[in-house]
Parts: sequence; C-alpha cells; structure tokens
Amino acid sequence: MRIGPYTFDSNLFLSPLAGYTNLPFRLVVREIGGVDWTTTDLVNARSLIERNPRALQLIRTCPAEKLLAVQLFGAVPEEMRDAAALVESLGIASVDINMGCPVKKVVGIGGGSAMMTELGKTARLVRGMIDAVKIPVTAKMRLGWDEQNLTAPDLARVLEDNGVAAIFVHGRTRAQGFSGTVNLAGIRAVVQAVRRIPVIGNGDVTTPEAAKKMLDETGCAGVSIGRGAFYNPWIFAHTRRFLATGQPSPEPGYAERVQVMRRHLDLMIEVFGEDYGCRLFRRPAAWYAKRFGPAKEFKRGVTQFRTRAEFEALLASYERWRAPFLDESGELRAAYRPGPLVASFMRDDDPDEPAVLRREAIPVPKGPVDVW
Ligand SMILES: Cc1cc2nc3c(=O)[nH]c(=O)nc-3n(C[C@H](O)[C@H](O)[C@H](O)COP(=O)(O)O)c2cc1C
Repeated sequence: MRIGPYTFDSNLFLSPLAGYTNLPFRLVVREIGGVDWTTTDLVNARSLIERNPRALQLIRTCPAEKLLAVQLFGAVPEEMRDAAALVESLGIASVDINMGCPVKKVVGIGGGSAMMTELGKTARLVRGMIDAVKIPVTAKMRLGWDEQNLTAPDLARVLEDNGVAAIFVHGRTRAQGFSGTVNLAGIRAVVQAVRRIPVIGNGDVTTPEAAKKMLDETGCAGVSIGRGAFYNPWIFAHTRRFLATGQPSPEPGYAERVQVMRRHLDLMIEVFGEDYGCRLFRRPAAWYAKRFGPAKEFKRGVTQFRTRAEFEALLASYERWRAPFLDESGELRAAYRPGPLVASFMRDDDPDEPAVLRREAIPVPKGPVDVW
C-alpha cells in the first residue's frame, strides 16, 4: 500500500469515529495488528490553530503511531491551510480532510459533506493546503449529497488533479445518513474516476469476507473499517489473514478479550486520567462484553464505575456470576456461545450469500454523534 511517500504493509485502515478513535483505541487496534494507518476524530481547524486544549487532546499521539492522519474539518481556506501546517510541524504523517460529515453544525459552515457540492471552491481550498505542506493530504467523502448528486467521482478526479494523495469513500450519500446499504457500484465509480491515487472503500465492513467483497467488487486499493472495529478490534488482524490465506481466524476467547479490554482501560486512564478515562470507557467496555456470552451482570455494573479498582471489582463479581455458564474446561457451554459475526451489505434475501455474511444493520452508537 502506498500513500504519498509512505509504503506500508496493510491495506486496511481504521476510519475516524468522533468520540471513539482516540489514542487509546487506536493503540489497542494497532497492538492487536493488521492496521498500519489510522486517523484521528475530526478536528475543527480553527480550534486547532487557536490551540484549543480539546483540539490538542484530539491530535495527541505517541511514537508507536508512525502513520497517523489528523482529520481536519472547516471551510475557511486560510484556517485549513494553517491547521495543516501546524499538523505537519508536529511531525504527524498526514492530513485528511473531512468532506463527508452530515452533521448540521459542520455542514452549516460549509464543511463536511457541503464540500461535495462545490467542486471548484473545494479544489481551491485543498490546493491551498497542499501548497502549504510536504506531507500527503487525503480526503474522506461520501458518494455525494444525495442520489441526484453523486459528485464523488468528479470530486475525486478534481482532487487528484490538485495533488490529493488518496481518497477514502463511504459508499452512502449524505441524505442516507446510515440507512440503507453501502453502494459498492458507487465506490467503484470513484475508483474508475481517478488515475493513479489509491481509493479506499468504506462502509458496513464487519467481517473479513465483507472486506474481500468490497475489494473484489469495487477494485478499491484498501478498505477502511469504523463501526466494525468497535465491536471487534480484532477485525484488522483477522481480515489481513483472510485476504492473505483465505483462512478464517479463530475468535479470541474470553481471557484474551479481557486482557485487551484491561489494556484499553489502562491506556484510557493514562491519556485521560482515572475519573474521565473510566467514564469514557464505559461504552467500549460494554462492546467488549458483547462477545462474552451471557453478560447481563457485567452490563449492569459497567455504567457506574469511576475507578480502576471498581472496574476490577465488577469484573471479579461478573466472573463469579458467569461461572455456572462454563463447562469443566472453563469454556462457555455451547448453548451460551455468541453467534457468528455477520456483515450488513450482504443482502438478506440473496440465497448465494452464506448466512454468516448477512445482517440487517450495524448499530450506530447513541450520543451527540449519532447523526453521523
Ligand atoms: C460515531 C461515529 C462517528 C464518526 N465520526 C467521523 C469523523 O469524525 N470523521 C469522518 O470522516 N467520519 C466519521 N464517521 C464515519 C465513519 O468514519 C465511517 O465513514 C462510517 O461509519 C461508515 O463506515 P463503517 O460502516 O465501517 O462504520 C463517524 C461514524 C460514526 C458511527
């Protein structure tokens, strides 16, 4: 895989997920393996140049994150240019431009998916950023504003002509939000519109099989995974293996899940402090529990803890509660094991798709960003 001057092994990417793709989560997925390039949550360009502490927190990184892109949003060319220069001065590998966000606050100022509606203006803004930095500048977009305005192929071509190093494309329109299924033909049209730069497909990938289907059917150079990684941070490692060998990977067992969950919490506390780190970790902790088998007792307590010690006490009491569901070898009894992971853009009514690949929809987490 190549983006600008960088060559790296994995063609799998972690998508930006505002509120979640913080440094601890990015490190956890990297440590599990299968991903070389990650992106921060979207960062307001103006806040960054004003050195707003929240914006600085969003771009916090460490040497283990060699290939990191900071994603900027904004519509004022000078602010986007200066923010890109600031990112470069901090030694960060790349800058990504948000052209897909449908949230009113972002679109209202001409940023996010509004950038897909004015190609000339967007091209000038992007050009200004590219001229100001040496690091590669990439763009993340949707297919267009709505079905009648599928501007992604034209925009991708214009951006390539202006020096953008890669395009990330979520196969839905702004009007679609997260409804419906990902449009693989729409992603393919973007792949066909550019000449040299890589196009990375995105949307609804929750299994290695779904990633392969996206690569095969769109011709994209790589796949970016967002929500699929919330629920399964092992997805990159498993997908890499599947793409290389055709072999599925065994699902991690309970002990491994708990080990990774603890590591994630340690990093949350290191980065955000104990109180805030624990509170922020309540939701991710519940995601880990989705694959624990019976977890009612864990989920009940997980909305409360405020310290590492409380978390450990919760885990210990959960493990006592869980014991009756285990057999003599300490494994979950068959009746309690979670079902297979499934992917959403495989049609439910398509008899050729194995059941393991089907699913209605991936949940979008509730909260201030649930309109993404
Ligand atoms: C909670 C949430 C936050 C998101 N935040 C961002 C963001 O900051 N920047 C961005 O470009 N896309 C953002 N997205 C969109 C994702 O990067 C991705 O394009 C989308 O979720 C589809 O991929 P998926 O099906 O693999 O999740 C967000 C999506 C969700 C669900």
